Amino acid sequence: MEDITNLKNEALAKIDHCQDLNELEECRVLYLSKKGKIQGLMAIMKDLPKEEKPGFGQKVNELKKEVTDRLEKRKAELEDELLNAKLENEKIDITLDAYTPSLGTLHPLTLVTQAIEDCFVGLGYMVAEGPEVELDYYNFERANTPKGHPARDMQDSFYIDPTTLLRTHTTAIQMRVLEEAHGQMPIKLICPGKVYRRDNDDATHSHQFMQSEGLVVGENITLADLKGTLEFMIASLFGEGQKIRFRPSYFPFTEPSVEVDMSCHNCHGKGCPVCKGTGWIEILGSGMVHPNVLEMAGIDSKKYSGFAFGVGLERIAMLKYGIKDIRDLYANDKRFLEGFKRFD
Ligand code: DAH
Repeated sequence: MEDITNLKNEALAKIDHCQDLNELEECRVLYLSKKGKIQGLMAIMKDLPKEEKPGFGQKVNELKKEVTDRLEKRKAELEDELLNAKLENEKIDITLDAYTPSLGTLHPLTLVTQAIEDCFVGLGYMVAEGPEVELDYYNFERANTPKGHPARDMQDSFYIDPTTLLRTHTTAIQMRVLEEAHGQMPIKLICPGKVYRRDNDDATHSHQFMQSEGLVVGENITLADLKGTLEFMIASLFGEGQKIRFRPSYFPFTEPSVEVDMSCHNCHGKGCPVCKGTGWIEILGSGMVHPNVLEMAGIDSKKYSGFAFGVGLERIAMLKYGIKDIRDLYANDKRFLEGFKRFD
């Protein structure tokens, strides 16, 4: 009986220590095969007294069963381990970095256009449009600039034929709107759009650029209204605190005509590289709508008066964002364009 117990302890411990299926098979052969150790116990049996034989035989059978069970259990464990190791080994990483689509941003000139529109729509202005391929008639004649007028030289033009050109200024839209009003007053509008001139492109010139025209016509409109309106526009584009000043100038379609400077938003008038040390930045042209312009549009210039201005949108964008070269606005370099998220 003691042999049985010893063999049992030995076998079970050895099975538990088996680290792979080969070792386990060796164990099985060692204990359970025909020539194995358990079968070996049977040899003892023949020397036992008769009455002890059945009890001994039963114990040996129990031992056989216990060892077989333990072998099965260990086998299952080892097979499990093997499978897990295999799965771990063959694991495929199905995760992938999420693809983040790159969202477009609004072009700086769009941001400036929207900022100007927001500012004036809030004051009750309409936003008007007109054709980029324009008649000489609206671009020049109706703007009090007849053929041969020296002021035409200020705007070298792309003519398509003798009567048609790429508009040189948004003032052409102003002339159409004045006509389309059919004398209905007041008129309050802005008209942003592209314009074209035969300029050689450099850091501050582009053969195509953007302007917005502003126009108000009604009773008792004065230069003071123009000044207040421009102060409001500049405050909404560059923040409060900018002063503006009028310098006398000349445009055929306004009388009087003024060029407008704002105090430098960068140094607040002290003088810095942005304003070339002067403290002032030239920002737009404007004036009181010339009576001839009103009359040509069928508007009684004795009864009504108006102011108008034309502002370059690239100039606003360059001042606002510190852009040094106007061509950057047209090169469509994504890295440049991504820098402009908002106008504030
Ligand atoms: N059309 C002018 C230009 O392109 C700008 C301008 C000046 C527009 C005075 C106006 C104005 O409406 O009143 O240079």
